[in-house]
Amino acid sequence: ATEAEEKDLVIIGGGVAGYVAAIKAGQEGLKVTCIEKRGVLGGTCLNVGCIPSKSLLNNSHLYHQILHDSKPRGIEVGDVKLNLQAMMKAKDTSVAGLTKGVEYLFKKNGVEYIKGTAAFASDHEIKINLNEGGETSRVGKNILIATGSESTPFPGLEVDEKRVVSSTGALALEKVPEKMIVIGGGIIGLEMGSVWSRLGSKVTVVEFLNQIGGPGMDNQIAKDAQKILKKQGIDFKLGTKVVSGDSSGEKVTLEVDSAKGGKPETLEADVVLVAIGRRPYTAGLGLENIGLELDERGRVIIDSQYRTKTAHIRSIGDCTFGPMLAHKAEEEAVAAVEYIKKGYGHVNYGVIPSVMYTYPEVAWVGQNEQELKEQNIPYKVGTFPFSANSRAKTNLDTEGIVKMLADPDTDRLLGCHIIGPNAGEMIAEATLALEYGASTEDIARTCHAHPTLAEAFKEAAMATYSKAIHF
Ligand code: FAD
Ligand code: NAI
Repeated sequence: ATEAEEKDLVIIGGGVAGYVAAIKAGQEGLKVTCIEKRGVLGGTCLNVGCIPSKSLLNNSHLYHQILHDSKPRGIEVGDVKLNLQAMMKAKDTSVAGLTKGVEYLFKKNGVEYIKGTAAFASDHEIKINLNEGGETSRVGKNILIATGSESTPFPGLEVDEKRVVSSTGALALEKVPEKMIVIGGGIIGLEMGSVWSRLGSKVTVVEFLNQIGGPGMDNQIAKDAQKILKKQGIDFKLGTKVVSGDSSGEKVTLEVDSAKGGKPETLEADVVLVAIGRRPYTAGLGLENIGLELDERGRVIIDSQYRTKTAHIRSIGDCTFGPMLAHKAEEEAVAAVEYIKKGYGHVNYGVIPSVMYTYPEVAWVGQNEQELKEQNIPYKVGTFPFSANSRAKTNLDTEGIVKMLADPDTDRLLGCHIIGPNAGEMIAEATLALEYGASTEDIARTCHAHPTLAEAFKEAAMATYSKAIHF
């Protein structure tokens, strides 16, 4: 048939933003199509992002711990060997299980899934170049752009995903590089740098700013994180800008300059990871055909209900405003479908947690100390070190602190910053507290099980208005 089928909602992109919106729309009884060109669902997050990186982080940590941290625990091990291929296979198995799971959820919720590349033919019609060859199209009463992001290239240094890699290549190296340089000390640089450092690579992170961690991390916590990662063997060159790179020789070389104008230097490595940020991806969508605008950073321009200036076309996830995080994309997906179906939806952008899955993990939610200072917002601080927490002590895992920021008059929680074991799980408690407008006294008067790491969270809350008991 040449007549395009009409749907209530046509979604472009099957990443976290697109697939969650598709499932939610199916649950709400909408006739929905999701178009994905990758050949698998789950987008960056499931295929080349959150999931494969966490698999390698978990297993490289176990390997590193067995090598360097088993004797004091009374465990003597023989020959410990790395089987990189098997480690990669474990990663691939986790990814495949999860992407197939999403496909199952599509079927269960009546979502039509088309494997192909979508572009706007008009503001209601989407043309699709099918992966298997041929074309089709769909007409959408509503259309959702959820095309995600891509790694920002470094000018003059071409990514071949073997010697000059983006995060995608760094998730699939065939052998451990002797020396690796990471351009950019943000989250990707530190997570992937940690993986290869633990597996035996000599890793140097070159960061333009004077602080690691990327935007959002509390200054004090970022300093602690750097100290701990340095102890683990990662070298840092802060306040240093990579000016140019060359991969034509036997080694990849980088020209670096002190950001303050010190003397230039040449660095060389077997593998260079480019991790200088990500940018929205909307290439080939034909936005110009329908007069849709991008901002100066390439983000799809939307209003508070995710509508572009053509109201039935909405956009969510990495290709539009806000932090490029999977859970943010997921919240927006549910809200956008609710706007379509019911006329209202909601995401609280002040309460989106961030987690860096290094060892120890770093996690935060709400405002950090430097932001409160900049905005002249009065605050008080309560901290509690894991070295005084009974569970951390029994686990021989005492690095890190919980830091809480609270309103000096009302004790209302303003932000929470954790570096320590299981910080990524513990931040959920702070997120809930912040969402409900809890005071630190509310938190501290809530009974926490003993012995748990979460008691450090409770005691940091106590320390904002009184004194912690165990420190
Ligand atoms: P994407 O996941 O990028 O999905 C967009 C999809 O649209 C893609 O699959 C693409 O193929 C498809 N597409 C694009 N154009 C078209 C078209 N014209 N037609 C059809 N299909 C199209 N976030 C976290 O919260 N936690 C983490 O631990 C984390 N780790 C990460 C680790 C790495 C190495 C990276 C790179 C990212 C990580 N992120 C993490 C970020 C997270 O992956 C993104 O925020 C998330 O994937 C955004 O979802 P999205 O659906 O908006 O975009
Ligand atoms: P980022 O923005 O976090 O960090 C990039 C860093 O590179 C910055 O600190 C910047 O100052 C530095 N930089 C830029 N140009 C440079 C140069 N020429 N020389 C030296 N340093 C330079 O970006 P990153 O790490 O690439 O990650 C992108 C996004 O992916 C994150 O912001 C996050 O949204 C998402 N992500 C989330 C994860 C998580 O939630 N655990 C894990 C991985 C990625």
